Amino acid sequence: MHVLITAGPTHEPLDPVRFLGNRSSGKMGYALAAAALARGDTVTLISGPVCLTPPPGLSKFVRVTTSDEMFEAVHAHLEHIDLAILCAAVADFKPAQFAPQKIKKSGRATLTLELVSTRDILASLAPLKKNFRVIGFAAETNDVSAHAREKLSRKGCDAIVLNDVSRMDAGFASDNNEVTVLFREGDEVSFTNAPKTQIATQLLALLVARYKM
Ligand code: PMT
Repeated sequence: MHVLITAGPTHEPLDPVRFLGNRSSGKMGYALAAAALARGDTVTLISGPVCLTPPPGLSKFVRVTTSDEMFEAVHAHLEHIDLAILCAAVADFKPAQFAPQKIKKSGRATLTLELVSTRDILASLAPLKKNFRVIGFAAETNDVSAHAREKLSRKGCDAIVLNDVSRMDAGFASDNNEVTVLFREGDEVSFTNAPKTQIATQLLALLVARYKM
């Protein structure tokens, strides 16, 4: 099986020294890549800026910084894949303009930034997924099931992996996670709190069995 995985945050530059980012460490996505390699899969890992060492044995490793770079990298590596798991915490918004020089503080009491939507990588795969399955992640803090179900439907993926990122013992940066996989057919499978390495193995086993891959 050939799996494409995205991991980590994106950084959206504001000026030469500042960016908009988020708390993703890359641990969940890198654990998925390692678990897929341990199964003998061919793995393409597309990673935002993280401090992790890529697992040995990757077929391709692409390091990106911005949501636009991640969008282009994903679309450039879709050939021959059987499964895409988009675990990256991609920015939903980016600065409308990049300031080529450092924005000065002097004389300002406040600073208003104009942001524009980024392109949605997960949603962009729905019309293309004739020969592969697409799995998203949903990072939610409230009404988690309802928001994740809405995302699953709106983004047109086969399943979405819900994690509650308001918790300290799961989600962003933690070594552990606790997830519920929501399938578009309506059923759900939950995994109790466990190391991300274990969640990754369980998740891949579930998907392989479900889709007979
Ligand atoms: O990296 P860790 O510290 O280990 O943390 C793991 C994690 C919390 C980042 C991970 O488990 C997780 O939840 N990843 C998804 C984070 C996220 O961006 O969720 P979202 O609900 O905002 O996005 C929903 C889906 O759309 C995601 O699959 C995301 O990759 C995708 N997306 C979002 C925006 C965008 N412009 N393009 C996208 O493809």
